[in-house]
Amino acid sequence: MFSSVSHVLLERDMTALLLTTNGGLEDVVEAEFRDHANDADLAYGSIETELFGLDGRIQIETEEPPERVVPVARRMRSIHHVLRYVHTFEFDRGTPSDSIYEAVYNQQFDELDQSDSFRVTSNRYGDHDFTSIDVQTWAGQAVVDRYGLDVDLEDYETDVRVDVFEDRCLVGIQYTRDSLSKRHPRVFSPKVSLKTNVAFAMLHLAHVDAHAPDMLLDPFCGAGTIPIEAADIHSDLAIYGSDWWETGIEGARDNAEAAELDDRITFEQVDAREMSDHYGENAADLVVTNPPYGAELGQSLDFHQFYREILDQLEGVLGPEGRIVMLVDKRGIFNGAVADTPAFEIRHVRIVTVGGLYPGLFVLQKREGH
Ligand SMILES: C[S@@+](CC[C@H](N)C(=O)[O-])C[C@H]1O[C@@H](n2cnc3c(N)ncnc32)[C@H](O)[C@@H]1O
Repeated sequence: MFSSVSHVLLERDMTALLLTTNGGLEDVVEAEFRDHANDADLAYGSIETELFGLDGRIQIETEEPPERVVPVARRMRSIHHVLRYVHTFEFDRGTPSDSIYEAVYNQQFDELDQSDSFRVTSNRYGDHDFTSIDVQTWAGQAVVDRYGLDVDLEDYETDVRVDVFEDRCLVGIQYTRDSLSKRHPRVFSPKVSLKTNVAFAMLHLAHVDAHAPDMLLDPFCGAGTIPIEAADIHSDLAIYGSDWWETGIEGARDNAEAAELDDRITFEQVDAREMSDHYGENAADLVVTNPPYGAELGQSLDFHQFYREILDQLEGVLGPEGRIVMLVDKRGIFNGAVADTPAFEIRHVRIVTVGGLYPGLFVLQKREGH
């Protein structure tokens, strides 16, 4: 599990940036970072996507200073947080409080020299006879003693991060306060809404630049996360979002207006089981969507039948070579429904961690002749 530990033994003068995302999207983060780094003419060394065998973490080692690399990472859409580990060590299991206190006390943080307040956050993985709150207390005391700063859990200037992975402790700085996925102001935010970074990843897997679709549709748009993300990235796409839920559609319109993207998206109240009548044959080239999860529809629903119905509707709505990127809760049943639908073939599937669930992210392609 800890085969990658050598990657966090930081070399002098190297910046080790840690980017966090949903499990299953690490390659999307890597590809996006490479794009941004190339655009910014940023040199980077290794990119580790299986840090500690845990998912959702990507470590980038670069000779560039944090002042150059952190702003590039902050522009990324596929991630939640940006951190930089500055020190890693094996702590003494007999006296973890002393080990962690001393390591933090002896660490020079330029960010803390320039701050009036701080807080410590800690993620802990493995079996320990202490909690992450203990780690925060020990490390926090070290910062108070060395830098003389005030702890402020809400209005802090610097977030010191002290993570524990089994016997190893990593000390660093977290640069992002809120998740970068909170990029659009949300006036309407139901529980079922996707995070924007997952919407970005779905659009990434749609390969919009390569396929150049004219019209994108999300027929289960809820609060409009996917259409709003698409409108923000792809300026020449016609974008439609629909849902059978009136409050959802009104909220999606409000969200689009708050993001100043309302003139780019058409939101309509439509039952997805009638979408081909509503939109017409061959109306769209690309569908990016996440239909309701099992918990929303109730376990008694015949999901095979539901997915078949939706795929039949999409066969009508999508033109030749149309593509679907869909996040689906019931992967096995969906596989069966696709197998029973001659119009589509599965081009790609992966599992993503979303809010404690493990839905499948499917890319389907319309077969020739359909
Ligand atoms: C998982 S949510 C989608 C969340 C959305 N991506 C967001 O970020 O807000 C599924 C949506 O499907 C909608 N829905 C369920 N059955 C539907 C149907 N037959 N036609 C259209 N929408 C439907 C629900 O109202 C819900 O908003």
